[in-house]
Amino acid sequence: MALQIFRTKQVQPPYDESEQSLNRCLSAWDLTFLGVGAIIGTGIFVLTGIAAATQAGPAVVLSFVIAGLACVFAALSYAELAAAVGGCGSAYGYTYAAFGELFAFIIGWDLLLEYGIAVAAVANGWASYLNKALTAIDIPLPEALTKAPKLGGIINLPASLIILILMALLIIGVKQSAKANNAMVIVKLITISIFIGIAVFNVHPENWHPFMPFGWFQTLPDGKTTGVLAGASMVFFAYVGFDAVSTAAEEAKNPQKDLPFGIITSLVFCTVVYILVAGLLTSVVHYSQLNVESPVAHALSLIGFNWASALISTGVIAGLTTVMLVLYYGLTRIVFAMSRDGLLSAFFSKINLTTQTPVRIIVLCGIIMSLIAGLMPLGDLAELVNIGTLAAFAFVCLGVIILRITQPELHRPFRSPFSPLFPILGMLSCGSLMLFLPALTWLRFVIWLVIGLIVYFTYSMHNSKLNENQ
Ligand code: ALA
Repeated sequence: MALQIFRTKQVQPPYDESEQSLNRCLSAWDLTFLGVGAIIGTGIFVLTGIAAATQAGPAVVLSFVIAGLACVFAALSYAELAAAVGGCGSAYGYTYAAFGELFAFIIGWDLLLEYGIAVAAVANGWASYLNKALTAIDIPLPEALTKAPKLGGIINLPASLIILILMALLIIGVKQSAKANNAMVIVKLITISIFIGIAVFNVHPENWHPFMPFGWFQTLPDGKTTGVLAGASMVFFAYVGFDAVSTAAEEAKNPQKDLPFGIITSLVFCTVVYILVAGLLTSVVHYSQLNVESPVAHALSLIGFNWASALISTGVIAGLTTVMLVLYYGLTRIVFAMSRDGLLSAFFSKINLTTQTPVRIIVLCGIIMSLIAGLMPLGDLAELVNIGTLAAFAFVCLGVIILRITQPELHRPFRSPFSPLFPILGMLSCGSLMLFLPALTWLRFVIWLVIGLIVYFTYSMHNSKLNENQ
């Protein structure tokens, strides 16, 4: 058994083209838009304010720089493996090739948590912005239909429904989803440009004093963490999603060239936007005023731009939709890859021949996430998403180092520069950011992994496709 759990999968295995292959239709720019669609969302529009007000002060800019650096190192590793190893399972697939089946399963399981909870969490944020917009035009939804039972309601209906609408879109097809995504990404970018355009003329440098009111890092008596580094592990959520580009490997027209381009371009672009927005936000108003659900719109209201504030709320609704769409898409492709490898039931890896999409997975994931989004308050689950994602990023960086040693002759259309220095820096920075997360988040993460191990040893190990090859 010891050998069985460490068996590795050959790189890019051949699959039955008719039933289990996806439609190659995404260009380099589609992939870049996919990345920007997944990246810019709740992190910048909501968490920046909370992190500035409670963890970092104006130094939230530094939190973004630190988290962004960790992501750039990880993204270079992702780009190398996406081009060399391929496969739509992203980090799961690379781990299968580099470390063997058990680790691959754990990472795949970890990614299910990352993507599934992220979609449900963003759906909650989306629902509050929608309700805010409806309230502004005097048609607020009844409270019972906008809150989870634990918060005194019956169901968060808008959060549930938006996931079901996206489910329909993903079933129809990838190219159609990509087109809808591109349109909404443009709305999102216009929204951010409006904010930047107004904010640059309303900068008050005195708001940057004190610059670092909470110091670098401390644990509070209630177990919560604060300081610039804690802020970095919180705003890391804003970067989650660039890895989703690599889940599109089997739908990219020219994956070996276009995936590295899509991953790196979208991440670098978003990093620059984040640093600009965070810097401007904390200089337009005092950081202590930003602990609200919609800090970007709120800041504009505070300086008298109510019209822009309303416009930004609308843009955010579109912006959060793309985040859910791309992460949902990524989730289905990871389940697809795991199911095709036999680690999850083969029932799911059937492609619908008319739409060329894995309809069964899309429906199952949609129903589960819709229920979670409607029935559970997901306040602190952003941290759970972060811990899962950071673990996956650290593994991908390690994967680059291991594969360079075990398969030096592998064709690598893109190589992470300064290897092994950059992958090591990626591992260290992602690992350190995990340490700044609260103990409760660690506990939840460990429980999820233990459930995964039970699934692996009772089902996956015995049904793995690699058994047939042996
Ligand atoms: N990066 C995505 C967001 O900020 C998950 O919403």
